[in-house]
Amino acid sequence: MSSHNRIQIMHGVNLDQLDRRDPAHYGAITFRQLEQQIDTFAGELGLDARFFQTNSEGEFVEHLHRVRDVADAIIVNAGAWSHYSRAIGDALQIAGLPAVEVHLSDVMAREEWRRVSVLADDCIATVMGKGVDGYREALQTLKVELEG
Ligand code: DQA
Repeated sequence: MSSHNRIQIMHGVNLDQLDRRDPAHYGAITFRQLEQQIDTFAGELGLDARFFQTNSEGEFVEHLHRVRDVADAIIVNAGAWSHYSRAIGDALQIAGLPAVEVHLSDVMAREEWRRVSVLADDCIATVMGKGVDGYREALQTLKVELEG
């Protein structure tokens, strides 16, 4: 029996409101469409995507505490938390799974405060500014990490 590696997609604060945000940064896609597209990418790569989104930092951290029970690797787009939540960085360390950080927009080309990620050191790679395709790249990186 073949079992697919399980990738937990973690979306944080305000990502659920994607279609109400600036299309110049995020495109015209809805959050549901984003998750569906990621699911399609995962299927094409022989990976099993599972999804979690919350606007509560505590819930996000608590999901990371139990993520080892349900996944083999993590894709994290924590929204604005990426820039200041050491608590989420600590929780990524606790999770102890390979993680890739994704940002839809090019955070390096935006406001100064977005240029810092406090999660980057706890991730094996960061993908930014590639929109939905960035998630495909992140999935590919994790596939290589898990399967060689
Ligand atoms: C984001 C970039 C963050 O700076 C911002 O706060 C978000 C989304 C992105 O996907 O481009 O909420 O993580």
